[in-house]
Amino acid sequence: MAAAVVRGREILASVVHAQIEVHAPYGGVVPELASRDHVRWVSQVVGEALRCANVTPAQLGGVAVTAGPGLVGSLLVGLCFGKALAMRQGVPVVGVHHVAGHLASAELADERLAAPYLGLVVSGGHTALYRIEADGPPALLGETLDDAVGEAFDKVAKLLGLSYPGGPAVAREAEAGDERAIAFPRPMLGEPNLDFSYSGLKTAVALQVEKRRAAGALAARDVADLAASFQAAATDVLVTKARRALRREGLGRLAVVGGVAANQRLRREIEAAARADRFLAVFPPLALCTDNAAMIAAAGARLLLRGEFDGAGLGTFARAPVHAR
Ligand code: KG4
Ligand code: ZN
Repeated sequence: MAAAVVRGREILASVVHAQIEVHAPYGGVVPELASRDHVRWVSQVVGEALRCANVTPAQLGGVAVTAGPGLVGSLLVGLCFGKALAMRQGVPVVGVHHVAGHLASAELADERLAAPYLGLVVSGGHTALYRIEADGPPALLGETLDDAVGEAFDKVAKLLGLSYPGGPAVAREAEAGDERAIAFPRPMLGEPNLDFSYSGLKTAVALQVEKRRAAGALAARDVADLAASFQAAATDVLVTKARRALRREGLGRLAVVGGVAANQRLRREIEAAARADRFLAVFPPLALCTDNAAMIAAAGARLLLRGEFDGAGLGTFARAPVHAR
């Protein structure tokens, strides 16, 4: 659950109420617990964002809410609260697509990121490449055919017995490991398309874990090497496909967004590619990589400036391509 107040490119306040303690015992998000926690916190989190920004509800020019995709139970809580707040203040409400929010986080971070540019969206639910134009919806160039890359990080963390959330835990373990220890496959690298696939890589890690477990307990050294080798395979594919997309589309700017954009190996490898191929690579600051409300507010503000807003009939959606909004 998160709330933020933005004015133009400036983030006046951004509050994130993480639910890690709620879900950690289960090793993943439990939808019913998530929505109940949203109900409990929504009013306080929005109130805290306004207080931190030193802004009263009457000073708001509009309200942006995430309409989807996501867990509908949780989305509904934010949507109802946002609609009610907008109605009470007599300002417009606008529904934002989660991926459009992630893309806006890069635009918030660096004003050199002008359209057209390539957007690499890497999170727990998405792994996709988009061509972003100044006008019109993002054009999908390629996406994962099965698991998202963040999901693969989370599943590998579980296999290795690491804590939830998995991405940062795998990255931490990887620091002590040798990424050349195990030659994991680089899925879809040989294919000429811009698509991804992560379920085979996850299975390859599972097989290696089983093999080692059969021979005894998983040693700390093994965990570190498996984490590093998996991280290298998972991120190499992202870098190669992003380079290919930039070349194919004739683009000189790349934005890497979503929770996995916080990964330091991915950042290093993209930076190296940017120097070699001479393109501009933009990453949001770490706090704006994982889910936050500032990116939703920024994306919503842009829609409102274009005169696009919704009415009381605005609903949520569990799935929809980003060009739905
Ligand atoms: O964007 P996000 O906060 O939520 C979704 O929209 O899914 O992304 C969360 C994902 C999780 O799968 C998490 O494990 C991953 O981002 N993640 C990372 C890192 N930090 C978060 N993956 C790899 N390395 C990280 N440092
Ligand atoms: Zn996200």
